[in-house]
Order: sequence, then structure tokens, then C-alpha cells
Amino acid sequence: MALSGATGFLGCHLLARLLQRDGRVIALVRDEPARAARRVERALAFAGGGPLSVPVGSGRLRIVRADLGEERLGLSAEAFRHLADEVDEVWHCAASTHLEADLPTVCAVNVEGTRRMLELAGAGRRAPRFVHISTAYVAGGRTTGTVAEDDLDGSFGFLTPYEESKYRAEVLVRSWAGREGRRALVLRPGTLVTDRPPVPRGPRHPHSVLGLRLGRLAAWGPQFLTRQFGVHPGPDGVFHVRLPGRHDSVTSIAPVEYTADAVLRLADEPQEAPGTVTRHVVHPVDTPGQVWLRAVRSVIPWVEPTLVEDHGRPTPLESFIVSLQPGGSRYGYLRRRYERTRLDAAEARDGVPAPAALDVPYLVNTLRGPRLERA
Ligand SMILES: NC(=O)c1ccc[n+]([C@@H]2O[C@H](COP(=O)([O-])OP(=O)(O)OC[C@H]3O[C@@H](n4cnc5c(N)ncnc54)[C@H](OP(=O)(O)O)[C@@H]3O)[C@@H](O)[C@H]2O)c1
Repeated sequence: MALSGATGFLGCHLLARLLQRDGRVIALVRDEPARAARRVERALAFAGGGPLSVPVGSGRLRIVRADLGEERLGLSAEAFRHLADEVDEVWHCAASTHLEADLPTVCAVNVEGTRRMLELAGAGRRAPRFVHISTAYVAGGRTTGTVAEDDLDGSFGFLTPYEESKYRAEVLVRSWAGREGRRALVLRPGTLVTDRPPVPRGPRHPHSVLGLRLGRLAAWGPQFLTRQFGVHPGPDGVFHVRLPGRHDSVTSIAPVEYTADAVLRLADEPQEAPGTVTRHVVHPVDTPGQVWLRAVRSVIPWVEPTLVEDHGRPTPLESFIVSLQPGGSRYGYLRRRYERTRLDAAEARDGVPAPAALDVPYLVNTLRGPRLERA
């Protein structure tokens, strides 16, 4: 099988699990071979927490240089054809995950890159299944209700260009499977985190940016805010700031380790008929926005954020606090949930214990990076 995105935060966990099984994995990585091998090894060390048991370049794990931004993934026609014929499954996990990037930039990787991966799957004589890692956030601007697994509705608009690009990629996958009479499995995780410490130059999760910035702020102390914004804490020694959002907002957050297990569990389900099957791969318990804010407050106890629906004009200090999590402030209004009927059934069948709801201590650990350790 071929897997894109193996050097990423989720992809490395998928690769680590796939290598525990029989079969060969071809990791599609955009770097030159020696650097790609080092990066995959680092990513696997992060995912497995230990030394690499399957060496890169062994019969079990091979790296092929492939760039989603280039036609035929940057391969010659012959190499592309050869690769296509080798694989019995194509797993597409790579993406541009920058929440702040503009639409053309993310579409170049997430839409055009998906089209190229579909071409790879389409060219192979073994008619591989296409396993596409999408996101629960293709639901876009929808704030309430339960998003069904079959839903793919762009009419609510999108909170970020990233979401829109992932939505468009799903549309491509569905139409490819329908048009070509092929099998596609679309898997939609929610927000992914981990409480494991990062490895130097290894994969990072989206909240690690927030973690780094909070760590820096914690080290600078409250006097930084006074110096920078000319404001003073209240009599309780605390800066009170308003953040945009609803007091009852929820987010679907899950440990990446749990999610990777669930991805493999769902991918193992029989899929004989042509067409697209879509599954949410989300935590069974949503994380309230209030719990998330308490975790942030544990790191910088001298800032008390409160979610307010009508944010009005933010003060410079409030804008600064919002900017600590790029793209994150848009999610403070979401109360929607995601259907996960099939994952519930698969976990019940396999006797998987329900994962614990994410609490403040866990979330604080997800924010811990090297800088926070020093703070
Ligand atoms: N992280 C989350 O919270 C989350 C939530 C829901 C869904 N997802 C989805 O899960 C998948 C994996 O996300 P992630 O968190 O693992 O992302 P990530 O850590 O940002 O990793 C992205 C991966 O894609 C690769 N990539 C990016 N551009 C490429 C290109 N032009 N050519 C080849 N490879 C390229 C990266 O390679 P380099 O290492 O070379 O940059 C990296 O391996 C994505 O499809 C994402 O949309 C993620």
C-alpha cells in the first residue's frame, strides 16, 4: 500500500500501526531520499515512543519521493505507472493543515494533491481502494445539530479556507468513486492532540502553536502585558479578557493515538461494493469550550478569558490573546455533534473501552512544549 503524509502528526501514527501488521508500506514523502528517511524515522520515534523496529529501506518500508503539488506527484510517467501498479490500497493523509493560509494555497495541496492521488489510484491495475483522511470540519459553518456521516453540504459556508479545501477534496473523492465505479473510504477526524512531549523537528499538532505561545507568555509574566498594552490587572491580580464564542460551545477533540487506532479499525471493515463510505472518527465525548479555557488559564493564571457571544470591538489585549491560537477563535460558536454510529458499533464489537473525556490536566499536557517546560 502507499501512504502520503507519513511525516505528519496523524500520518506517523498510521504508519507505525500499519508497520505492526504484515504487508509493505510505501511512504510518499516530498523530501530528497536521505532527508525523507531521517524525517520518517523521527516521526515514527514520536509515534511509537521507541526505536524504529522496521528500518526504512527494508522490504517492509520504502520511501518514494512524491510531491502533491506537482503533476504525477513529480514522478516520471514510468515511475508513476510502476508505483500505481504496485499498490493494493492508496491512503491519502497528507494535506496542508495551515488554518490561516489562503484558499488558492491550501487548494493547491488539498484539492489538486487529492486529484493527483486519485489519479495514482485510478492508474493501478490492482484497482486499489482509496482511503482519504478528511476532517469533521468539512461541515463548515454549521453550528448546531448532528452532522450525519453521509452529509457533505457546503451551503453553510466555511470558517477557514482549509475547511473549504478539505470539503472540495471530499467532493472530488466521491465523484471519482461514482464515476470510476471504485471504492473510497473517507475518514473524518475532529481536532487531534497528544499529551506526549514533542520530539525535536518531529511532527506537531495544531495546538502546539498555542502551547508554544502560551509557554512564552507564561515565562514573560503579567508585566509583559502591562508593558505591551499599557493595561493593568484588576484588584484580583488578573487580566479579564473577552473572547468570541458561546458559553455552551463544544469542540470535538481526541488524542491522536485513539484516532489512529479508530482509523485502522474502520479501514478494516469489509468494503466490497463500489462507491464512497464516509465515517466520522471522533471522540464520543465533546470537549466544552469552558474546559478548554480552564486549561489555558492553568498555564497563564493571571489571564481570565470569558466567552462572549457579541464580542464587539476587541481591545488590543483581547486581539493579542485571540491571536495566540491562529484561526482558533472562529470555533467558539460551534455546538454541533458528529454521528459516529459505525465507530460505536466497531468499538463495541472489539470490546474497546470508552476513552475518557478530555479533562483540564490532559489538555494542559497537550499544551506543554519545550518552552513551557522551561517556563
Ligand atoms: N491535526 C488535526 O487536528 C486534524 C484534524 C482533522 C483532520 N486532519 C487531517 O489529517 C491529515 C493529517 O493531518 P496532520 O495533523 O498529520 O497534518 P500535518 O502534521 O500538518 O502533516 C501534513 C503531512 O502532509 C504532508 N504534505 C504537506 N504538503 C505536501 C506536499 N505538497 N507533498 C507531499 N506531502 C505533503 C506533510 O509533509 P511534510 O512533513 O514534508 O511537510 C506531512 O507529512 C490531514 O489530511 C488533515 O486534514 C487533521
